[in-house]
Amino acid sequence: MEVGVKIGQLGREPVEAIILLLYEGDGTPQGAAAMLDKALDGAITTLLQEGEFTGQYQQQSALHAHGRLKAKKIVLAGLGKPETLTHDRLRQVAGSAANYARGLRATSLATAVDGAERAQIAPADAAQAIVEGTLLALYRFDKFKTEEHDRKEVTSLTLVTSNRAQAKVLQQGADIGRIVAESANVARSLINHPSNEMTPSILAEQARQIAKECQLKCEIIERKDMDKLGMGLLLGVAQGSDQPPKFIVLEHRGGKRNQGNIVFVGKGITFDSGGISIKPADGMERMKYDMSGGAAVIGALRAAALLKVPHNVIGLVPATENLPSGKATKPGDVHRAMNGKTAEIVNTDAEGRLILGDALAYAARYKPIACVDLATLTGACVVALGHEAIGMLGNTAGETLMERLRKAGVRAGERVWQLPLWDEYLEHVKSDVADVKNVGMGRAAGTIAGAAFLVKFVDGYPWVHLDIAGTAWADREQPYKPKGGTGVGVRLLTQMLLEWDAKE
Ligand code: BES
Ligand code: MN
Ligand code: ZN
Repeated sequence: MEVGVKIGQLGREPVEAIILLLYEGDGTPQGAAAMLDKALDGAITTLLQEGEFTGQYQQQSALHAHGRLKAKKIVLAGLGKPETLTHDRLRQVAGSAANYARGLRATSLATAVDGAERAQIAPADAAQAIVEGTLLALYRFDKFKTEEHDRKEVTSLTLVTSNRAQAKVLQQGADIGRIVAESANVARSLINHPSNEMTPSILAEQARQIAKECQLKCEIIERKDMDKLGMGLLLGVAQGSDQPPKFIVLEHRGGKRNQGNIVFVGKGITFDSGGISIKPADGMERMKYDMSGGAAVIGALRAAALLKVPHNVIGLVPATENLPSGKATKPGDVHRAMNGKTAEIVNTDAEGRLILGDALAYAARYKPIACVDLATLTGACVVALGHEAIGMLGNTAGETLMERLRKAGVRAGERVWQLPLWDEYLEHVKSDVADVKNVGMGRAAGTIAGAAFLVKFVDGYPWVHLDIAGTAWADREQPYKPKGGTGVGVRLLTQMLLEWDAKE
């Protein structure tokens, strides 16, 4: 989709639909809306006076221009009161309005960003939020549908401003929004592919392709090298599958050498059957999404490269299937990780922490100044936080990193919520036969037990674990989240990088 900024009047844009964002409580149309209203002989004023449209948050209405504008129609979208508008609410309103316009069969859209400052939102940030909301909302995954035709898609979005000086900042915000949203959509597609079409090999190939397109360094570590490195936990999960495991390494060298490395690690289980500790059939199809952390890391690296963020960012994605077979790991088996630690596998369905254990041990070679892992790790996280928050845990060295993620999460609309990782919880993962076991104490503190296992493989560097089990998949349509993979994490990590001062 084309995204552009134009200097001019919204009413003169020859598009199929103008999206007019309106605050609640304005008795008469303001700014760009006032001019449109005039051209339409007061039609917007009438709507407001009749109380038919009040500008309430997420209220929508449509008007036909009947040839009085260059545009065919106008979609009115309510922002709510200025004091209640946030970056994410703006993203949501833009997303809903884009969906609504698509429903009206509009293929080109234009909007203005003139009132954002009334809500203390900088024009560039408003442009970013509107572009993100629109592109995220209009995403669809219909690659495997052969029967539905005649689907009109929106092909352009134009931000119009009459202020020549502002065009440049709007363009900068719009570019960020486009890159970030497209990267999240790339992650969504990786997730939405069924596991037969997204094996570890295909995922690695996709990563390689993306790396080539945006000039990232890419290396795929193959099974024989995993062997040499001693990645016994990753290999242990992979041994039940006929698909070879892949360990994807992406590098964006945007910073100076002495700036250190920011490492992202993503769980890349392309299908989680549970292994010998097999899952119930009901809902198992969902487990193609168990590589959502890996997809988020690939998406975030793509965004970092295209935005040329001034940091050294490394992405690590251990990828494998988790399947039962005659060769599969059995409950009670012990495997050795690349840092030498041994793990008792009590439940083969707790496989995410195993592959991440090796990946976190591998991360140590980058001497990370920050390391964030993302994983659909525990059903317990869905019980604790539902689908509204990412579970966050970290070591003491990771306190500042958690602060950064909290801040970026609010801005990105991908909020994190911290759970404790006190020393007492390390007791939960003590094994009688090995250094650590891969389950905790029954149903107690399942998400924390996952993190307690992981911390054993973190070599003292600042580390944060994000459990995205509840947020990586949408069961219902939301303003800018179609059903399916959400791409959660891409915008959060990218926002954190954008806010990160290289001199810190
Ligand atoms: N991928 C799952 C986590 C999951 C489960 C996400 C259900 C969403 C819904 C993970 O590999 C897993 O199976 N975790 C187990 C761990 C348990 C065996 C300690 C879980 O959460 O049940
Ligand atoms: Mn599992
Ligand atoms: Zn899993």
